[in-house]
Amino acid sequence: MSLGEPDFSGRIVRWQKTSGRHDLPWQATRDPYRVWLSEIMLQQTQVSTVMAYYEAFLIRFPDVKKLALADLDEVLSMWSGLGYYSRARNLHRCAQQVLRQHGGEFPRSAQELQELPGIGRSTAAAIAAFCHSERVAILDGNVRRVLARVLGFDADLALASNERALWDLAQGLLPQADLAQSMPRYTQGLMDLGSRLCSRTRPTCTDCPVQELCVAHAEGETHKYPVRTRKLKRTSESLWLLWAHDEQGAAWLLRRPQRGVWASLHCLPVFDSEASLLAALPQRLRGNGSALPVVRHVLTHKDLFLHPLRVALPKRAALALEGSWFGPEHWPTLGLPAPIRTLLGGLS
Ligand code: ADE
Repeated sequence: MSLGEPDFSGRIVRWQKTSGRHDLPWQATRDPYRVWLSEIMLQQTQVSTVMAYYEAFLIRFPDVKKLALADLDEVLSMWSGLGYYSRARNLHRCAQQVLRQHGGEFPRSAQELQELPGIGRSTAAAIAAFCHSERVAILDGNVRRVLARVLGFDADLALASNERALWDLAQGLLPQADLAQSMPRYTQGLMDLGSRLCSRTRPTCTDCPVQELCVAHAEGETHKYPVRTRKLKRTSESLWLLWAHDEQGAAWLLRRPQRGVWASLHCLPVFDSEASLLAALPQRLRGNGSALPVVRHVLTHKDLFLHPLRVALPKRAALALEGSWFGPEHWPTLGLPAPIRTLLGGLS
């Protein structure tokens, strides 16, 4: 296919009209705050999960000012269960930056949006295209797959120079006319095509509006694209969790460091071995713990094996650890990692 082929964008736009998604809550607005929020939530999370979080988040934080002035803890608690909590921390920082440096209005261009915390090149382009019809390309994971297949782009995307080349090609395929209408539709159309038809393992080529243009389809080799050699190795890690509780069911929780697993969230004290957990307990309590079943928690590149030890501390003794007691009534308002929330909820 030649660059700048209007046939390609025209087909995507027409297909979006007839067969794309039209009922998503963030499609009913061009408010950059709402569009931004949806794009951040959708970065690593499926549409069906995002829906409920999106509505609840907007009720609690209806505009960028309310979000900027909120406590980080409250933002994290509204995010609890969505995972990838750096998104929530960046969201909060971004809102503060928009309030202080941009007078509470998101900048309009993709270029400027990309300067803000948590907004990468593709997210910036999506916001600018949806809200202001800017003629700028997105290239998230789904769209990368669609374009690599249609173009037969077989260079290794682990190399930055190849990635740049695909960005340039993506830019060359954008609509050229009626941008006010066509840019939001085209952008949504590529996303919809990537998630609905052009799936990684079993694309539904028969329903695809660009089947006749698609190099990978003509070759019968959709599975070959996109090419990326560098694969992150999965690792696993065991963590021991001290679940100290008092007679009323309060738990000893502390805030996690700003970096690493569950950064900035509240959590049970975490140890890298059973011995170090026991060493943190007063001598007389060391035999009192009951080991709960191991919980496997899957992160993007790591399997965590969580070993909770539940220990009764009769007199609400302060532990020689950072943290403090939190009764069950406080747990819903804290940013807690999902497996910790489940654990506490299951036995409290
Ligand atoms: N994934 C990322 N952005 C999206 C959007 N606007 N609609 C549906 N899925 C998406």
